[in-house]
Amino acid sequence: MSGHVVVTGAAGFIGSHLTRALLDGGHEVVGVDAFTPYYAPAAKRANLADLAGHRAFRLVEGDLTELSLEPLLTGAAAVLHLAAQPGVHTSWGSGFAAYLHHNVLATQRLLEACARAEVPRLVAASSSSVYGDAPSYPTSEEAATRPVSPYGVTKLAAEHLCLAYAQAQASGLGVGLLRYFTVYGPGQRPDMAFHRFLEAAFDGRAVTVYGDGEQRRDVTYVADAVRATTLAMTAPVDGTVVNVGGGGPVTVNEALELIGRTTGRRLRVVHAPPRPGDARHTGADGARAEALLGWRSEVDLATGLAEQAAWVGGRREGRTAPAGIG
Ligand code: NAD
Ligand code: UGA
Repeated sequence: MSGHVVVTGAAGFIGSHLTRALLDGGHEVVGVDAFTPYYAPAAKRANLADLAGHRAFRLVEGDLTELSLEPLLTGAAAVLHLAAQPGVHTSWGSGFAAYLHHNVLATQRLLEACARAEVPRLVAASSSSVYGDAPSYPTSEEAATRPVSPYGVTKLAAEHLCLAYAQAQASGLGVGLLRYFTVYGPGQRPDMAFHRFLEAAFDGRAVTVYGDGEQRRDVTYVADAVRATTLAMTAPVDGTVVNVGGGGPVTVNEALELIGRTTGRRLRVVHAPPRPGDARHTGADGARAEALLGWRSEVDLATGLAEQAAWVGGRREGRTAPAGIG
């Protein structure tokens, strides 16, 4: 593969691990990130701290809707588009404007620039949230998409924008769409369940469980999600959506029990009403990922959670950069 790789959302949870993996694999990487305030920008800077000064890495700070993108994209072998406003529950009400901006408008601006710069391959991060309450488990990519949150609607819109641009591109912008299923591991976003539960366990604080805790998630260790993404740079995924999951499934109650065992601390649970937009269960049918990417998840939950617990513990002792994810 000749040419550099552009990673949008490079300072984020998954994007920073992806950037590190690409650099370790000998790629030249241009990272783009706006350091949005969805969560502390300082945490995003810490995600990249160990890459500062890396000779094959350049970080461009700015919003995809404002940057002059073409110069960054010209000559790129692939664009890996992870930038987004994530999180399901803050996408209702006035929060929605940010989702439209970062997930829909930013994706459209990027696609326009990819077309002009004649980028051959774009891999975009989508989400299990496009399925909503899927009619069958495990859920295949052929299942109906009916998001139950405004966030999921914007991720589905972004998928369709990518497909429309790919179809309209005579010069051949190949697009692969990866539907990640609840990703966890060192550096996980602070709004996500495992991160919150682990912090609470270390603090001796109670955790809040929304609903009865019997909702199920097919969780994916971040190194597995990263590997699927790097494979998609060259795999035959043009015009295709692919599920990236299969490390779970686990209920919230089961995850809490495992976190208690992993940290050796008893967790106190406070129940709150279920939150609108929360799918009841997610589960990835992994057949397409296996056929097209030659990928299946490899890291089991106990191993992945132990890695994340070690990272949370390390952070509290003042070590800031995410630990390795190997
Ligand atoms: P994250 O918030 O940690 O990373 C996203 C990054 O994108 C942030 O650093 C943010 O500053 C940047 N960004 C947002 N809007 C931007 C813009 N307009 N221009 C430039 N940069 C911008 O989130 P994450 O958990 O690492 O998620 C990465 C991607 O994977 C997202 O597309 C998300 O929707 C998707 N996804 C994540 C999960 C998960 O469980 N974490 C699951 C499914 C899908
Ligand atoms: C996650 C990400 O946040 C989304 O960005 C992503 O798109 C989505 O995965 C996906 O796979 O598509 P979610 O599974 O809801 O969404 O993320 P978690 O924060 O890990 O929540 C898992 C479950 O735990 C949810 O039912 C949530 O309501 C519950 N939860 C979360 C609690 O009970 N308590 C908490 O403090 C946090």
